[in-house]
Amino acid sequence: MFKISIFGAGFVGAAAAQNLALSQIANVVLIDIDGGVAAGKSLDLRQTGPVLNHSASLIGGSDYEATRDSHIVVITAGIARKPGMSREDLLRINSTIVSSVAREAYKLSPNAIFIVVTNPLDVMTSLVQMETGLPSNQVIGMAGVLDSARLESFIAEFLQVSPLDVRAMVLGGHGDLMVPLPRHASVKGVPVSELIPADELNKMMQRTVNGGAEIVALLKTGSAYFAPGASVAAMVKSILLDERRLLPCSVKPHGEYGLSDVYVGLPCIIGKNGLEKIVQIELTAEEQEALRISAESIKTNTTQALSLLKPPAPTTLAPTEEEPSKAAEPVKADSGTAK
Ligand code: NAI
Ligand code: 2OP
Repeated sequence: MFKISIFGAGFVGAAAAQNLALSQIANVVLIDIDGGVAAGKSLDLRQTGPVLNHSASLIGGSDYEATRDSHIVVITAGIARKPGMSREDLLRINSTIVSSVAREAYKLSPNAIFIVVTNPLDVMTSLVQMETGLPSNQVIGMAGVLDSARLESFIAEFLQVSPLDVRAMVLGGHGDLMVPLPRHASVKGVPVSELIPADELNKMMQRTVNGGAEIVALLKTGSAYFAPGASVAAMVKSILLDERRLLPCSVKPHGEYGLSDVYVGLPCIIGKNGLEKIVQIELTAEEQEALRISAESIKTNTTQALSLLKPPAPTTLAPTEEEPSKAAEPVKADSGTAK
């Protein structure tokens, strides 16, 4: 059985764990700086087994040792932006958390493929690759699957068709500069431009760009997690089952699309080696320019994140300044058989 470790047992981490348990392809270890939360959620999820008919092993705690020899490491650890906190504060805190988690997770699972979720997504994915020193095919960010699913869902709702028949792709960074590609959207192969008036399609693209913010505004105390968790699970499945799905993911190009030295959303084949291939599709000059601008912005933010990072903390679960007390007593992962 494969083993997946999810660092950050918050909303997205738990939703990913639930999807993975139901797919029965892997045992799941949930790790959080608050070990009680990770242990409690994994216990709760285990108890869905008899009802939902799965027998996945799910364990949780704050002791990283339980993650040893994972096939896949998922990083959702971080904090959400709080009132009064600047974008820079958030960047500094999440950079510190994600770098530390990646460094320690890598020591225990040096052959794992890392999937990064924490925001700002493309920057955090870059930090994980730098921190672990892994080849870039083994470090991938999740955002394009989610952003594309949002666009697909809006198209399906507008046309009153099954979302199963809708395909669309969103490239670029996971933020205001993402690049939806309406020319490549279709319903069972029929281009959406033949089915949807241009102004309506534009509205859907704009709604996709604001997709995360729309849900934050409704939830008020957090951000989306069902679709993000499902998107993580889709990537994990494509890797573990070597499905070689074509999924937009945040990856590091080596000249493809004229880009390098940056993590940015591009169409990828995802299989047993993580990123198998970046798929080069024809872009219009306008699309290519939008992608370049998005990548430039990520580069700037990545440089800023690196400058904000403090020297590495000495221990695995050293508390950050903002979360001083939770790491005091590591919680050993409770009973379970994730190996
Ligand atoms: P959350 O606040 O529910 O969960 C984050 C968890 O990380 C918390 O349980 C917290 O205790 C834990 N944590 C903090 N520091 C830690 C450390 N040093 N070690 C281990 N765990 C630590 O947040 P949620 O909703 O699960 O989102 C997680 C992240 O994913 C956020 O950064 C969010 O913005 C991002 N996100 C990204 C998406 C994407 O498309 N890439 C989509 C949705 C969310
Ligand atoms: C989202 O797009 C917050 O990045 C997160 O829902």
